[in-house]
Amino acid sequence: MPVSLIILAAGMGSRMNSDLPKVLHQIGAAPMLHHAMAAGRSLDPSRIVVVAGFEAARVRAAVLSFDEAAEVVVQDPQLGTAHAVAQAAPLLADAEGDAIVLYGDTPFVRPETLEAMQAARGRHAVVVLGFQPRDPARYGRLIVNGDQLDRIVEYKDATEAERAIPLCNSGVVCADAKTLFALVAEVGNANAAGEYYLTDIVEIARSRGLSAGVVICDESETLGINTRAELAGAEAAFQSRARAEALENGVTLTAPETVFFALDTHIGRDAVIGPNVIFGPGVTIESGAEIKGFCHLEGCHVSRGATVGPFARLRPGAELAEDVHVGNFVEIKNAVLDEGVKVGHLTYLGDAHVGEFTNIGAGTVTCNYDGVMKHRTTIGKRTFIGSDTMLVAPVTIGDDAMTASGSVITSDVPDTDMAIARNRQVNKPGLAVKLMTRLREIKAAKAKGQ
Ligand code: UD1
Ligand code: CA
Repeated sequence: MPVSLIILAAGMGSRMNSDLPKVLHQIGAAPMLHHAMAAGRSLDPSRIVVVAGFEAARVRAAVLSFDEAAEVVVQDPQLGTAHAVAQAAPLLADAEGDAIVLYGDTPFVRPETLEAMQAARGRHAVVVLGFQPRDPARYGRLIVNGDQLDRIVEYKDATEAERAIPLCNSGVVCADAKTLFALVAEVGNANAAGEYYLTDIVEIARSRGLSAGVVICDESETLGINTRAELAGAEAAFQSRARAEALENGVTLTAPETVFFALDTHIGRDAVIGPNVIFGPGVTIESGAEIKGFCHLEGCHVSRGATVGPFARLRPGAELAEDVHVGNFVEIKNAVLDEGVKVGHLTYLGDAHVGEFTNIGAGTVTCNYDGVMKHRTTIGKRTFIGSDTMLVAPVTIGDDAMTASGSVITSDVPDTDMAIARNRQVNKPGLAVKLMTRLREIKAAKAKGQ
């Protein structure tokens, strides 16, 4: 059955104490909104509508960066969760099948849980996701009778007896899209907060003779983020899950608690990740690659058999083919290294292409920036770049070529040539000893004078 997602993300999140909308604060190097979108996307939804409000333009940009086909509707003013869902109604008027309401600030709902809600729709017109928190605090309470959910009461409006109920409302709802919008249209705002509560649709559904039911999930899935402290807690929860998943997928982590993953990190089986490795967004590591300790990786691809680090930095656009070796204190940005390339030490390669089996000597720098524009460096196959070569881009070095150590290469080097671009060495006989003697005399004279 087709499904549409409605993701509520209009709130400012005032308790974050931030100029950034709450849903754009990051967990696993991605806006927390992307986590909810990722969970929902695993249902293969036909439509995704995000309800934005505070800083809607920034929220829209973040939505589209995750999924160009997603739609954004602006809710202004924000009159409650039912009012928020109603904003999606015109866009989804013709949507067939179910709609699921998710929240931009509730990032950890599992795809399996959403599937269980869809399955429960076979028995109920409206399915609500409930949970039993250790501390039920101010959550809405689910009033259940047998397998029927009678209504949801908000904490503010609840009696003492209702507040004693341990089963709470996560806010996540699944219903036929047309039914959902029909129910939402009937919600009023006669309550303690003067808001249009989405939770009221349950009582309205029951009064129409429709069935409502509850699917229960673990508290960890409904973790909502309202403060920086909760954000930090959510980051820790995300990281420990990501580490456990990596281990389960056959990745070796020598010190799991020191490795930090992004939402979209992909690591193949039998890859080995050393201690203190940080993955930014957009990293894929193929099977059997090794990332040694203290590396930072972002927007890069590391192929089978490659080794990286320790202390290497791979920046966006770094692509390492099979069996490439990148050693310590090497930075690679927007550069493709073909099979078997070796870049052992103290090197910067930016805006470059390096052909297969080429060796880049220690201290090599692609001088890719002239202060205004970036330029490319192209290096051929089986070439040897001597240590401390400055490659002043734009420049092309051919196949089977060499550059002498300490060269500043400003013009192209043809295939099979050796380029030497440095001053010729001159030896002055005996000058070292003469010079030292003279310097010691000067120092001694100065000491006497004081
Ligand atoms: C809501 C539920 C409550 C549940 C709790 C779980 C209602 C009435 N109550 O309460 O039963 O236990 O979530 O966390 O639904 N939002 C909008 N536009 C609005 C109002 C809210 O987009 O006009 C968004 C907020 O940005 C937020 C989410 O909806 O992400 C929930 O809204 P919030 O006001 O925090 O509801 P709660 O009081 O937490
Ligand atoms: Ca909330």
